Amino acid sequence: MLIRKIDDMHVHLRQGEMLESVLPYTAMQCERALVMPNLMPPILNANDVINYRMQIMEVLSNTKGKFFAPLMTFKIVPTTSAAEIDGLKQAGAIAGKLYPDGVTTNSQGGVSDFKALFPVYKAMEECGMVLCLHGEMPNAFSLDRETEFLSVLKDVALNFPKLRIVLEHATTKDAIDCVKTLPANVACTLTVHHMYLTLDDVIGGALNPHAFCKPVAKRPKDRLAIIDAALSGNPKFFLGSDSAPHAISAKENACGAAGVYTAPVLVPALCQIFEDYGTITKLEPFTSQFAAEFYNLPLNQHSIEIVKEPWKVPEVCGTIKPFLAGQTLNWKVV
Ligand code: DOR
Ligand code: ZN
Repeated sequence: MLIRKIDDMHVHLRQGEMLESVLPYTAMQCERALVMPNLMPPILNANDVINYRMQIMEVLSNTKGKFFAPLMTFKIVPTTSAAEIDGLKQAGAIAGKLYPDGVTTNSQGGVSDFKALFPVYKAMEECGMVLCLHGEMPNAFSLDRETEFLSVLKDVALNFPKLRIVLEHATTKDAIDCVKTLPANVACTLTVHHMYLTLDDVIGGALNPHAFCKPVAKRPKDRLAIIDAALSGNPKFFLGSDSAPHAISAKENACGAAGVYTAPVLVPALCQIFEDYGTITKLEPFTSQFAAEFYNLPLNQHSIEIVKEPWKVPEVCGTIKPFLAGQTLNWKVV
């Protein structure tokens, strides 16, 4: 079966050797991917955007999967000013990503006064840039962080009705329900790992650091609400894998890093969910249409072929353990 090559609207490609190791998987399945800016040091200004894109293009030139374009972002921090937004747009950034203080990888010193950035949201609204939100309230109890953040989402959405806002990687039924009720300027990415995992997969038995990510996987009813939203055909919900590679040594560690590396299994793992809970025909709008429409991008012109053929996910890809390592998947990208 051929499907339109996909858009992954939330991916961590990292830098250096890690970038070299992870980019081929994304470039093979995706025609575009929105690349997250939480590097060390972060992507903050126009020069950072240009340099990071050049690094990605350099690695891409030595990679199969030629029809791939990185979509660039910058990190919104407390010192980001409205005056910088036009320059960031000129440099190629199509979205700004807001990380609340301390809620995930490299978010130390992030935002805690969301209203103080109203001038920045205004400038983004005026120049047609998308605001991507990591939706967790700092210092709230970990299972309630996303729900508590929804008041911030509503506040920004209602004050900036023309600003396109994406609540990234929703993990709760509360968030899904909230996005459904907000106007059409608010959309939501969903990950494949949150369609598979609940908190029990992380801490229900022996601690599984490879299922640990932010926001942490929640309850069974939340997992089902995510699958339901992905299958619903509602264009507010589209794919953002949040594929977040960390070396095994950083995951199997007393201070284990948050992130699930889904890029190597992205399309096959999605096919399995869509087949098990609905129908595979609903996959393409979710992976290859709704995000393009929301971001005002043309539809991708190339295809990938998916076949129903069992294959075993490797235990490691380079220094990283992929999601569903060692498991047999029924679908394969040719
Ligand atoms: O689990 C996560 N890992 N969540 C994020 O928001 C960031 C990501 C990372 O960069 O590792
Ligand atoms: Zn992320």
